[in-house]
Amino acid sequence: MSSRTVIRGGLVITASDEIHADVLIEDGRVAALAASGTPAAGALSAERVIDASGKYVIPGGVDGHTHMEMPFGGTYAADTFETGTRAAAWGGTTTVVDFAVQSVGHSLREGLDAWHAKAEGNCAVDYGFHMIVSDVNQDTLKEMDLLVEEGVTSFKQFMAYPGVFYSDDGQILRAMQRAAENGGLIMMHAENGIAIDVLVEQALARGETDPRYHGEVRKALLEAEATHRAIRLAQVAGAPLYVVHVSAQEAVAELTRARDEGLNVFGETCPQYLFLSTDNLAEPDFEGAKYVCSTPLRPREHQAALWRGLRTNDLQVVSTDHCPFCFSGQKELGRGDFSKIPNGMPGVEHRMDLLHQAVVDGHISRRRWIEIACATPARMFGLYPRKGTIAPGADADIVVYDPHAEQVVSAETHHMNVDYSAYEGKRITGRVETVLSRGEAVLTDREYTGRKGHGVYTPRSTCQYLS
Ligand code: URP
Ligand code: ZN
Ligand code: ZN
Ligand code: ZN
Repeated sequence: MSSRTVIRGGLVITASDEIHADVLIEDGRVAALAASGTPAAGALSAERVIDASGKYVIPGGVDGHTHMEMPFGGTYAADTFETGTRAAAWGGTTTVVDFAVQSVGHSLREGLDAWHAKAEGNCAVDYGFHMIVSDVNQDTLKEMDLLVEEGVTSFKQFMAYPGVFYSDDGQILRAMQRAAENGGLIMMHAENGIAIDVLVEQALARGETDPRYHGEVRKALLEAEATHRAIRLAQVAGAPLYVVHVSAQEAVAELTRARDEGLNVFGETCPQYLFLSTDNLAEPDFEGAKYVCSTPLRPREHQAALWRGLRTNDLQVVSTDHCPFCFSGQKELGRGDFSKIPNGMPGVEHRMDLLHQAVVDGHISRRRWIEIACATPARMFGLYPRKGTIAPGADADIVVYDPHAEQVVSAETHHMNVDYSAYEGKRITGRVETVLSRGEAVLTDREYTGRKGHGVYTPRSTCQYLS
């Protein structure tokens, strides 16, 4: 039996257009758009009508960077796929691409199977996987080809965290050469981890143990240096490159230079770098630990370069790098030694809202909001046009967004499984009202109507953003 819904009277915003239109959804997909008030719109009929007058109708968010249940520093990220994707739905994100982890000495397949087992049957919204490659060798290089064929088309490597996820330049070059052949996209954590470890050791020897020293040893120049090196290695390999969680203005400059040379080099930043700073890392009584992530928060001056990069398309994507650790019992593992604070911050629930606030504040336009949060991540990671837009044939992953509602972010009201909010007390104009995932209401007028197991694994094609 076919099920039809019409969303009437809203302003439909995509990366390319803003039109007052009614949207017909049939069997989980967008079937038609018709200009509101016209006979064509009047002819759209359905069992269910959602009134979106005065609201925005936008594509569901695509968060291309999450870490549900990620093992790190002797503990695990606090959100499971169940709690984390439910929080994503509350925040208007209808697709997450999470990072499966290869542990050293094991195969990519084992890591991927383990992540499928964690996610399957548990997700509220659709999900895909990137693969973290921690151990480049002849076997893993061959496995990369197989993963690309089955829809895991991007691979994260780390120039940081020696002894854990770290790859040296030779391993990185080999993986990039493979990606150049099989169409995979290398995603790079660009920080010079070897140099950082020296500075960590020296800081701790001086008795500098507070969270703020995490920001001081992980220097902007060491992010820029690694970004430069990754770009040149990718150029030598003839492979595209996507640099994750860019926070330093010097790193943005490296991306800008490479893009001006015409290279297929892309950059992602995250809300924490746009809205928070080293001031937060310096909060007293160990509160700064809440803001420990890598790359680290930077002095406020860096934010202007990030906003500029988002406007000039030197940065293309805003993802969350959602990797929550509770203050109590998890962040506290690093009391007396900042290097033992698990790295990562919660954020999957608030990306769409924080970026709407950026529209209100005049940093970006409405269409750019949808481009960096929905359309480009979908294209970058091979999910477009099924995800990331509202067009006939696309999955009906749609958010009815109230641009005038006022909200205050708080751990008391958020839905992530973590005991603090990095944005506690922040006022935001705009709020997610109703969320459809493949036509099914997962949030209805701010009441949760979703279910565990609705979200399905979504294999991806190769990058659709190459020039
Ligand atoms: O601090 C962070 N970003 N934790 C998650 C792992 C990573 O490097 O993305
Ligand atoms: Zn094994
Ligand atoms: Zn990283
Ligand atoms: Zn990450």
